[in-house]
Amino acid sequence: MRQIWITKAGPPEVLKVKEASDPEPKAGEVRIRVEASGVNFADIMGRMGLYPDLPPIPVVPGYEVSGRVDAAGAGVEGNWTGRNVLAVTRFGGYADTVCVPANQVFARPAGMSALEAAAIPVNYFTAWQLVVVMGGLKRNETVLIHSAGGGVGIAATQIAKHIGARVIGTASAAKHAELRAIGVDHLIDYRTEDFEARTREITHGRGVELILDAVGGESWKKGYRVLAPTGRLGMFGISSAVTRKERSIFGMLGVLASTPWFQFNPLSLMNANKGVFGVNLGHMWGEIDRQREWGDRLLESWNKGAIKPKVARSFRFDEAPQAHHFIQDRRNIGKVLLVP
Ligand SMILES: NC(=O)c1ccc[n+]([C@@H]2O[C@H](COP(=O)([O-])OP(=O)(O)OC[C@H]3O[C@@H](n4cnc5c(N)ncnc54)[C@H](OP(=O)(O)O)[C@@H]3O)[C@@H](O)[C@H]2O)c1
Repeated sequence: MRQIWITKAGPPEVLKVKEASDPEPKAGEVRIRVEASGVNFADIMGRMGLYPDLPPIPVVPGYEVSGRVDAAGAGVEGNWTGRNVLAVTRFGGYADTVCVPANQVFARPAGMSALEAAAIPVNYFTAWQLVVVMGGLKRNETVLIHSAGGGVGIAATQIAKHIGARVIGTASAAKHAELRAIGVDHLIDYRTEDFEARTREITHGRGVELILDAVGGESWKKGYRVLAPTGRLGMFGISSAVTRKERSIFGMLGVLASTPWFQFNPLSLMNANKGVFGVNLGHMWGEIDRQREWGDRLLESWNKGAIKPKVARSFRFDEAPQAHHFIQDRRNIGKVLLVP
């Protein structure tokens, strides 16, 4: 099999394709011949040595794949062999063959392409946890979604629109027309406009009921201020720590310095009627049964046409460095994938 390794911490060019012998599924696992692997921002932070959850480098990153099952280990229930699937992987997903526990695998609905399938797990599970499970977004509420053009941003927009909420999105200006077509009601170019002031203006001073913010630092401070009474701030990343393509801790130090360590406290939260919460899908491995339920509901939503993953671009395995550049140059609108 072929795998893409992070050979050392550094720029995208540290990603290298290497050959290895095919893995055999252990008890409870199935083997998937991969058709597409998802690229996530966490892989980029991992490549730069900024992601503490990543196993020690050298390592094969990757949290999600789609493909076809060609073997099952002992004790696997159900007839998986020969089925088209999508799966979450605990690292190791940048490979043309993976073995994963069967409880992390979902049957791919008829008519869903391998590319669409690989774009679902991380982005849509994260968006579901943020918008539905913890954000509790309701019809006619307003949600502010940062990085609305990323994979999570588009997934969250589709889920929010299906609920009947109003969406305000921040994104680079070049992405606005396409995001408007996807359903974002109001767009803010965060590079030239102050999102706090613009959000107040759009909501006639009231603020928003939910914010999804993976930018971090100063952005969390401003977001907290622009929450309406009963509003919730969902924090799920610190992309503003990534200021270069090489390993650098200065961006991380900047985010830590501007993090609102003291702005939220029990008294201020209580008196302002505001909530804050955090999401890290990578720490939800103990909740696989709940994730299965989310996956089933999401695939049902796909069947009904309520969600539709948007693939920005797919790259061959030997083009993995370009895939990381593409995201870091902020060129993606939607999901970036690797195809063996
Ligand atoms: N906690 C979790 O469980 C979890 C799960 C998934 C993702 N996340 C986080 O959510 C965020 C978005 O993930 P995603 O998969 O949707 O992203 P993505 O598809 O890779 O897109 C990233 C987008 O974020 C924006 N961005 C903001 N800061 C950036 C930076 N420093 N460098 C490059 N782009 C930057 C860019 O859009 P603009 O052009 O509009 O700036 C870019 O296109 C990331 O921070 C990621 O770590 C967290």
